[in-house]
Amino acid sequence: MASTILLPLTHIQSFSHSQNFAKPLLLQRIPLSSSLSISNSHSKYVPAKAVSSYRGGTQAAIKQESIDTLTSESAKDNQTNPLSSKLVLVVGGTGGVGQLVVASLLRRNVKSRLLLRDPEKATTLFGEQDGELMQVYKGDTRRPEDLDPSIFEGVTHVICCTGTTAFPSKRWDADNTPEKVDWEGVRNLVSALPSSVKRVVLVSSIGVTKSNELPWSIMNLFGVLKYKKMGEDFLQRSGLPFTIIRPGRLTDGPYTSYDLNTLLKATAGQRRAVLIGQGDKLVGEASRIVVAEACIQVLDMEFTEGKIYEISSVEGEGPGTDAAKWEELFKGAQSQ
Ligand SMILES: NC(=O)c1ccc[n+]([C@@H]2O[C@H](COP(=O)([O-])OP(=O)(O)OC[C@H]3O[C@@H](n4cnc5c(N)ncnc54)[C@H](OP(=O)(O)O)[C@@H]3O)[C@@H](O)[C@H]2O)c1
Repeated sequence: MASTILLPLTHIQSFSHSQNFAKPLLLQRIPLSSSLSISNSHSKYVPAKAVSSYRGGTQAAIKQESIDTLTSESAKDNQTNPLSSKLVLVVGGTGGVGQLVVASLLRRNVKSRLLLRDPEKATTLFGEQDGELMQVYKGDTRRPEDLDPSIFEGVTHVICCTGTTAFPSKRWDADNTPEKVDWEGVRNLVSALPSSVKRVVLVSSIGVTKSNELPWSIMNLFGVLKYKKMGEDFLQRSGLPFTIIRPGRLTDGPYTSYDLNTLLKATAGQRRAVLIGQGDKLVGEASRIVVAEACIQVLDMEFTEGKIYEISSVEGEGPGTDAAKWEELFKGAQSQ
C-alpha cells in the first residue's frame, strides 16, 4: 500500500515548486534573415527589445563565453532554418515548460509571441530579442479584458503552459489558484482565440480523468486535476484544432539560475527516452525538456489534431528533436 501512496506525494512536491528568477539571463540577439509585418499598435504590446532588461556587469562578464557559443550556434541554425511562417503564441512562456518552448522556438528561428503577466521576465529570461522574432504582450489569462484581439493577430499556433501550484502557496497570491488559472484562465484564452489558428496545444496533467481516485485524489485536494480537466473539456468543445499533452510529474527545471545558452543545451540526462500513451493510463515522470519538445513537434503532425496524449520520460536514448522519431512515438501511442 505504501508504494501506492508514494507516487502522488512525489507528484505533489513537484507541483509546489517555487519560481525564483533572481538571476537574469542574457542572450545575444539572433540575426534575422527575413522580415515580418505584424501590427504593434496595441497599447499592451511590448517589443522585446524595449522591455527594460537587467544589465549586471557580473552577468555580462561571466556569460560572455556562453553568448559567443550561442551566437555561432544560432547563426548556424539560422542558415539552415529560415524565419518560419509560423507565429506561435506561448502562454506561460516564463514557466518551466514554457521557457524551454520559447528557447527552442528561438533556436529554430520560429517567431513567437509571449503573453505574460510580467513582460520584464521575458527580458530577464531571454535577453534582448529582435521584435520580429519574439514579441511580448502583457496579459493575465484570468482577465478577459486583457485578451484583446490584437494579441492574436497573425498567430498561427498556440502553446499554453500556464499553471500554478496544486496546493496553497505564495503563487496563489491575488487569487491565482488552480480554479482561476487552469479553468477560468484556459476558458478565457480559448474563448478569445480566433478560429483561424491552426493548432492549440494545452499542457495539462496525467490523472485528470481519475481525480476522485487514489492516489490522484490527494493531488486533487484543492481541485487542480478537476480544473485542468474542465479546461481540457472547454478546449475540446471549442471547435478549435487542439492537441492536449498530459505530462507526468515534471523534472528538469524550471531553470532559474542559468543563461539561455544553458537552457538551449539542457538535456534530460539519462532520461531521454519518451513514452507516450492515451487513455490516462501512463504514470511516471516527464522531463520538461521532453514535454516542451513534444508541444513543438505536434504542431507539424496533422494526425495529432483533436487528440490527447500522456507523456513521460525514462532512461534511455530519446527522439531528441528528430521529427520522424516523434511521429513514430505519437503514432505508436494511437495504435495501442
Ligand atoms: N509540476 C508538475 O509536476 C506537473 C505535473 C503535471 C502537469 N503539470 C502542469 O504542466 C504545466 C507546466 O508546468 P511548469 O511547472 O513547467 O509550469 P510553471 O513553472 O508553474 O509555470 C506556469 C506559468 O504560468 C504562468 N501563469 C500563471 N498564472 C497566470 C495567469 N493568471 N496569467 C498568465 N500566466 C500565468 C506563470 O507566469 P507568472 O510568472 O506570471 O506566474 C508561468 O509562466 C502546468 O500547467 C502544470 O500545472 C505540472
